[in-house]
Amino acid sequence: MIESIIVFGGKGGVGKSSISAATAVKLANDLPNKKVLLISFDIAHNISDLFSMDVGNKITPLTSNLWAIEPDPNVYAEEYTKELIEKMKILMKQMPIVGMIPQIEKFIDTTFTAESIPLALKNAMFFQKILDAEDINSQDIQFDIIVADFPPTGNMVALFEIPEDQVKVVLKYSLNFYNSVKGAIRNFSKVFRQFIKPFDDYEKRKELGREIFNMIVELEKRGERITELIHNVGSLRLVSIAEKPSFEEIKRARDLTERYITLDAVHINMLIPKKYAKKCKFCAQVSSIQQKYLIDIKNEFQGFKVWESNRLEQEPIGFKGLANLATEIYENTKVSEILRPNP
Ligand SMILES: Nc1ncnc2c1ncn2[C@@H]1O[C@H](COP(=O)(O)OP(=O)(O)O)[C@@H](O)[C@H]1O
Ligand SMILES: [Mg+2]
Repeated sequence: MIESIIVFGGKGGVGKSSISAATAVKLANDLPNKKVLLISFDIAHNISDLFSMDVGNKITPLTSNLWAIEPDPNVYAEEYTKELIEKMKILMKQMPIVGMIPQIEKFIDTTFTAESIPLALKNAMFFQKILDAEDINSQDIQFDIIVADFPPTGNMVALFEIPEDQVKVVLKYSLNFYNSVKGAIRNFSKVFRQFIKPFDDYEKRKELGREIFNMIVELEKRGERITELIHNVGSLRLVSIAEKPSFEEIKRARDLTERYITLDAVHINMLIPKKYAKKCKFCAQVSSIQQKYLIDIKNEFQGFKVWESNRLEQEPIGFKGLANLATEIYENTKVSEILRPNP
């Protein structure tokens, strides 16, 4: 059962991916009995680079209890749309009369393809699939903790708006589909009126409508399930550096995501270490600007856990580098506090 979904958000370049990966490594190390999945929602995936391992669009084991995936939302959206169209075709062939129309498939509207779905929604659909317990069961891995590296604010909000948007897209397609079936019936009955009774069986039409309606309701239920899951076990962490643009970004992110997920902590990354701050005039200057924003951010996010991390001398890459970054961030913080900073 998914116990925790930790989502990292913030502006590009502030260290979201690095901190997500470092957190996943730390949790997996400290909790050997928990299965941890690290997932990236940036189109420019970099989990592979961070771990110097080939991850890609499949759940890939990194250690005995840590997995990662860089999903290709297109691949999933293609499977999804194909499946839906297949289901509708089957449904239609099972229909009395409609199913008898020769070459009925030609009339089916198959314009519902992966290309017709916006990227944010494709990502969202994939996120749902990962979070949906039923799908996870079918993959035989039951994750306990999911660490998600989210894109900057705009796309991040789209990821939470899934259920509504997804239902809208499928509803639109279903209406097109239904209309195309009606069109087929109309054409057919014009030509073959003398051979067969026109399709005017209201009950049968209603049945078709009801089946399609149920498919949409199923989807909506799944959406509700996911929304509830994120609501119950989701934890948002906003990452910033001590500068104005990324500080503004995390304020926006906080406001826009409030209704979907609980904000638990703020990370202030890439601070100049104190021992260097006075070493040169330039360093002192930059450091004093950082200290000003550090205070501003802490004031703005009073009551939330704030984790500070210095800029490391070496890029935090590979298991060792990421573990170093985790130590820099969390020091001796207990793992239970990392999971729930504000119990
Ligand atoms: N605390 C840190 N010290 C040094 N380098 C860092 C630190 N955090 C991140 N980096 C480096 O900064 C760059 C951007 O980090 P990344 O995690 O890719 O940011 P984002 O995902 O927010 O775009 C990367 O090269 C990463 O290795
Ligand atoms: Mg990134």
